[in-house]
Amino acid sequence: MHNYDWLDTERATLEQAGLRRHLRTVRSAPTGTINLDGRDVVLLGSNNYLGLSTHPKVIAAAVEATHAFGTGASGSRLISGNSERYASLETNLAETKGTEAALVFSSGYAANTSVIPVLAGDGDLILSDALNHASIIDGCRLSRATKEVYRHCDMEHLKLLLSASTAFRRRLIVTDGVFSMDGDIAPLPDICNLAAAHDAMVLVDDAHGFGVLGKNGSGTLAHFGLEAENIIQMGTLSKAVGALGGYIAGRHALIEVLINRARGFIFTTGLPPATLAAADVALDVIRSEPQLRQRLFSHAKRLKTVLIDLGYTLLPSETQILPVVLGSPQRATNVAEALLTAGVFAPAIRPPAVPTGTSRLRLTVVATHTEAEIQRAIEAFAAVLS
Ligand SMILES: Cc1ncc(COP(=O)(O)O)c(C=O)c1O
Repeated sequence: MHNYDWLDTERATLEQAGLRRHLRTVRSAPTGTINLDGRDVVLLGSNNYLGLSTHPKVIAAAVEATHAFGTGASGSRLISGNSERYASLETNLAETKGTEAALVFSSGYAANTSVIPVLAGDGDLILSDALNHASIIDGCRLSRATKEVYRHCDMEHLKLLLSASTAFRRRLIVTDGVFSMDGDIAPLPDICNLAAAHDAMVLVDDAHGFGVLGKNGSGTLAHFGLEAENIIQMGTLSKAVGALGGYIAGRHALIEVLINRARGFIFTTGLPPATLAAADVALDVIRSEPQLRQRLFSHAKRLKTVLIDLGYTLLPSETQILPVVLGSPQRATNVAEALLTAGVFAPAIRPPAVPTGTSRLRLTVVATHTEAEIQRAIEAFAAVLS
């Protein structure tokens, strides 16, 4: 049994460092208020930004698809046949993203860890923003390419690295569109100019911009008015879209190569028909109900303004993600616990999800929060300070 003793030591080490994580039980749908461990609390930690996972049209599509096609895909898309629901969703995605084609993966994590090793390998260079998501970091590791990390959104640093790396076969710049823990937006026009000048590829992870930013909610490129032609876009269906899955959107040739080379596409089972149908209809709702985005940003603005007035330190986010920086993991955990007692669930985010010394509460609002729920959250934050 000694073989496994290290697990107890590991758990104790996590506890002492304030880094032990706990799963809490939810007994309700992910709306503005949830039932958490038996209590109703305002949720400020959801990525269901537009509330689409409980939208009546989205639910109806999922139920209908389950009746028509069953609950599971039965195998990988190449081996067991490709559900027509995939074709419909991928066409819808390509139209939304302004690309020739799109390919759906079983999660955003799978999309990043699959596409990066296809785009770059031995003899290639990946230039990655210091605050990129863990799935990008893991994709870089799997790729076996050389990796250089540029300082967060620092275009001078990126330019320097590009100028000094002409010997590599291919170069790939990869960045979050909206940074998941900070809520700021990558300077995509500058990144694209640098890429064009140095003959590099660009991969943008639009997990938190898709559905929320730009015309029709089509994402971070649209926010800047950028054409999609020379940019590879990754995104997820698990956040504003309210379902599950990841995607890559780009030119036909890219999608063909991914179908043949991306291991996280080939060696895994397809998504359930209900998930595909839900995501497909959710994309239509995002286009047809712009008031959801307006409501989301109005809630974000209100909460941000009041928290700053109360004296909290917020990072300069431009989006629905509001990071309240608290420093040590213990402080973040203590404030999160006090908020929970006051009726608000705002989970503490600690290393390795964020750099050491920047443990925080990562607050997110959703369009379906009521004014009363936002007010309740504000009162809880005020009470915790006093
Ligand atoms: C920036 C970013 N990329 C990728 C992912 C992974 O997406 P998914 O949750 O669909 O696996 C996430 C979310 O966890 C994310 O925040």
